[in-house]
Amino acid sequence: MVITIDGPAGAGKSTIAKLLAKRLGFAFMDTGAMYRALTVKAMRCQVRLEDADALVSLAKNTHIDLLNEPGKPLKVLLDGEDVSEAIRSVDVTNNTFYIARTPGVRHVMVEWQQKMGLRQSMVGDGRDLGTVVFPKAEYKFFLDADFKVRCRRRIDEMRAKGQDVDEEALAKDLAERDHQDTSRKVGPLKQADDAIRVDSTNMSIDEAVDFMFLRIHQK
Ligand code: DC
Repeated sequence: MVITIDGPAGAGKSTIAKLLAKRLGFAFMDTGAMYRALTVKAMRCQVRLEDADALVSLAKNTHIDLLNEPGKPLKVLLDGEDVSEAIRSVDVTNNTFYIARTPGVRHVMVEWQQKMGLRQSMVGDGRDLGTVVFPKAEYKFFLDADFKVRCRRRIDEMRAKGQDVDEEALAKDLAERDHQDTSRKVGPLKQADDAIRVDSTNMSIDEAVDFMFLRIHQK
């Protein structure tokens, strides 16, 4: 069984998908982590991020895997190396746009994700899972929240990790990412027609997970 959760940055997708997967005993597939991991490799190899052909050939020569171990955070493996921390840097976050906008790279990613979906039951989070990667997923959710609330959550998350936050710059970056995600020609962020919309603006994480869990058990 595949459950998809799509939505904009900062809506709480990863946290909620992770908890829902745990509750259902399913694997968790963080597709954003896969785009980020390829960005790490492109930066390390000094591939020109505007060079679509180079990015596609890099993708074809890369192995990215997501390791779900019971009771442990998801491990993101780039050619066997654990890059779970490296993929969260600000530089990687900002450069992932180049990777995500390249149609040939998305094609490779979608194939990897579909293969992972065949291996095991899973909850996946991303932008195009309900529309492109798993159009026949058993359950689809589109998770959204007010822009200001999404900013606030990101700020709190970063502060909790002891990072300095420039609130204005963060809001600008998030607005830019929304624009990039929705205006991309291939695999843009879009609610699938048959997805259930969940507005988490006034919901706690647990409330959102409960809501989805109940919907899955109701149908
Ligand atoms: O969910 P995230 O912030 O970790 O995603 C990182 C980037 O990857 C973000 O810029 C959008 C992109 N992405 C995508 O294009 N398609 C997906 N299925 C998942 C993420």
